[in-house]
Amino acid sequence: MSKQLILALSKGRILDETLPLLADAGITPAEDLGKSRKLLFDTNLPDVKLVVIRATDVPTYVQLGAADLGVAGKDVLLEHGVEGLYEPLDLEIARCKLMTAGITGAEPARARRRVATKFVNVARRYYAEQGIQAEVIKLYGAMELAPLMNLADEIVDIVDTGNTLRANGMEPRELIAPVSTRLVVNKAAMTMKHARLKPLIARLGEAVARRR
Ligand code: ADP
Ligand code: PRP
Ligand code: MG
Repeated sequence: MSKQLILALSKGRILDETLPLLADAGITPAEDLGKSRKLLFDTNLPDVKLVVIRATDVPTYVQLGAADLGVAGKDVLLEHGVEGLYEPLDLEIARCKLMTAGITGAEPARARRRVATKFVNVARRYYAEQGIQAEVIKLYGAMELAPLMNLADEIVDIVDTGNTLRANGMEPRELIAPVSTRLVVNKAAMTMKHARLKPLIARLGEAVARRR
């Protein structure tokens, strides 16, 4: 294991909120992440590099040790599983909720509910816990369309303002889990690189606390 630290960042909406937090903790990319097609970036710290990847790929990179630590939504972590990962810090950004939702006013008619989602593991677990029979249908986006097109009776998706649901004649139903962005660390790296990781995690924790 090299003494370099690789930090995996989720691109998309989390990235915009992560960069100010990192800056506050003393880490700034050597170039503008938004303006580059590069995926691996130097920082102001000679031993810290950043990779910017799909949010759903962050747990994989960190779990397998390609990255030492990463920034990922709790939704993604619940779906992926946390084997081989520590979750030392809630970064308290990109807050939203994992919820079930359906067409406004519609009763779930079928005994075996059809549920469209990209969170298939979360959905299977949730409906099993509730004792509800569910047929989970994997989609990669635009879950809100599925009930309108009679592809599904319900969806499991991210809800923030509820605007996307409302705009599609749907309503939120049950809360599955509150979501915010978390720092995750590879378990082996936490041991092998503890001297370097400990102060970095502490500074990020202080940056989070300053925003409260
Ligand atoms: P994707 O292309 O995977 O949807 P996003 O950038 O939209 O990527 O979302 C990345 C993460 O941001 C999600 O995993 C979730 O934790 C959080 N998130 C998604 N949608 C919202 C939202 N509407 N409001 C706040 N946070 C959100
Ligand atoms: C996310 C999520 C919901 C929406 C919820 O979509 O998948 O559709 O935000 O937010 P709201 O309750 O405030 O409307 P996003 O904008 O990330 O689009 P995506 O389908 O590209 O992920
Ligand atoms: Mg999205």
